[in-house]
Amino acid sequence: MPSDIDDLRRELDIVDVVSEYINLERAGTSYRANCPFHPDRTPSFYVSPSRQIFKCFGCGVGGDAIKFVSLYENVSYGEAAVSLAKRFGIPFKLRKEPSVNSRLYDILSAVADFYHRKLRESGEALEYLRSRGIESATVKRFMLGFSPSSGELVRVLSDMKALEDYERTGNLTSLGEGRYRDLFHRRLTIPIRDHRGRIVGFGGRIFQGEGPKYINSPESEIFRKRNLLYGLHEGLAYLRDTGSALLVEGYFDVITLHQEGFRNAVASLGTSFGREHADMLAKFVNRVYLLFDGDRAGRRAVRLAAPYLLRSGLEVFPVELPEGTDPHDFLRAEGRTALRKKLSSARSLFDLLLDRVRRGEEVEVSVRDFIYFVSFVRDGVTAYTLLSELSRATRIPVDVLAEKVQRREEPQEEEPRLSFTERVFLKGLLELKPEVDLDQLNLSQKARAYAESILREDYYELPEEVLNLRCVDLERDFRSALESLRIDIPQEELLVSDRNLREAVRERIRRHRGGIRGSSLRRWRANP
Ligand code: CTP
Ligand code: MN
Repeated sequence: MPSDIDDLRRELDIVDVVSEYINLERAGTSYRANCPFHPDRTPSFYVSPSRQIFKCFGCGVGGDAIKFVSLYENVSYGEAAVSLAKRFGIPFKLRKEPSVNSRLYDILSAVADFYHRKLRESGEALEYLRSRGIESATVKRFMLGFSPSSGELVRVLSDMKALEDYERTGNLTSLGEGRYRDLFHRRLTIPIRDHRGRIVGFGGRIFQGEGPKYINSPESEIFRKRNLLYGLHEGLAYLRDTGSALLVEGYFDVITLHQEGFRNAVASLGTSFGREHADMLAKFVNRVYLLFDGDRAGRRAVRLAAPYLLRSGLEVFPVELPEGTDPHDFLRAEGRTALRKKLSSARSLFDLLLDRVRRGEEVEVSVRDFIYFVSFVRDGVTAYTLLSELSRATRIPVDVLAEKVQRREEPQEEEPRLSFTERVFLKGLLELKPEVDLDQLNLSQKARAYAESILREDYYELPEEVLNLRCVDLERDFRSALESLRIDIPQEELLVSDRNLREAVRERIRRHRGGIRGSSLRRWRANP
């Protein structure tokens, strides 16, 4: 039975919902209509069945089926959800969010307190922080901590009668017979707050022994990485004051930047920067500096983040750091004045591209990139102004340039995409933890690399298209994906009953590597 809004959303079909209100006409793989939310003479309102969203390219409104109803009927999102569930006969109860979750927030905050207290007793953890130049005021401000032993944490939690509730966050796993394991055991703990300052999860960095470099709280009702930016709460006032944010990649980058006075630094939590992050930033600032490593991965990160930022109406200022250097390294090596200088001389993404065009550097690529990035700018006047500048630099008439601009919503992947079958396969590999021999499967290079990283328990780099994939019956879909990916498919196995097939598959696929354990959505890469 759908228990939360995500489940309800999965049950609804946006085309059915919207058609109850307005007439939709088919347009390729989408549907369109005159927008009901603004005076619209040409149909600029689109509904995408594959993405289950609507979007008006005239006035900019968009969202899911529930959002549509809430806008149309002018009721809250929750009310729209309840009325839709009733109308389509889907069992659903609106969760009274605060009362259920506020206890969890209290528990998480108590756990953070406990870790923070324990840090003072751990010589090694303190020494590690010292060696990285983290001062004690910073340790306090970010409430850094240390998880000494699962047993001690369990005692604290049982004293609070909070053991079961805390288990729901996935940060603590029951091993049976009253034994538990703390996910962050022997790690440096970094509490993560939402924009309202409530602690919603942790990052845990290893600093001794073997294991992945970071472990993060698993996704849950209250810990949704898509909606979280590390450092946002701590830096909110400063973000508003300066009207700008520094977007970086790592926890330690945020922590050291704040310490050195750049208190507008934020980072996404080891997940790619997305639409929700950009929308969040746009509430407080109008300019975002991208401080990524000056290597290929860093440049790729700029390409992936910039579209969302532009789409939210933000100005983008890429700041290139020396290759192999992150902001934390840069600050430690060059100091804050050097970084200040870099920031004040930074140029916008569009100016950087224009400069290259003017200098005759990679003109074709730069023009193409310029047009690509303009295609995310939703404000018509801004987009036109940018194109006029490009027109002046290239002497190509602005109309010709404008024709090349296609409205875009999502960044375009340069790399080949995974096939649907491969995505289902990877999702199943991640969540069902089956025993699989990759050598027996026909996988693209990219899918193979992801599969290997899952088997290595290194989920950090997995793409959203796999993580966000939704299957009604993952086990069934996984099995059929597996079948179609198999290099040789013996006919007799395809004919046996479902139950036998399951057995046969189980038997045939061998364990690639012992013990794939842990939460499926935890992402990390091996300690370098
Ligand atoms: N990350 C993760 N799991 C990993 C590696 C990284 O979740 N195994 C996420 C973390 O949010 C991390 C960010 O990706 O902060 C950036 O990674 P990296 O640059 O490796 O980490 P730093 O925070 O810079 O850590 P450090 O400076 O200690 O190396
Ligand atoms: Mn780093």
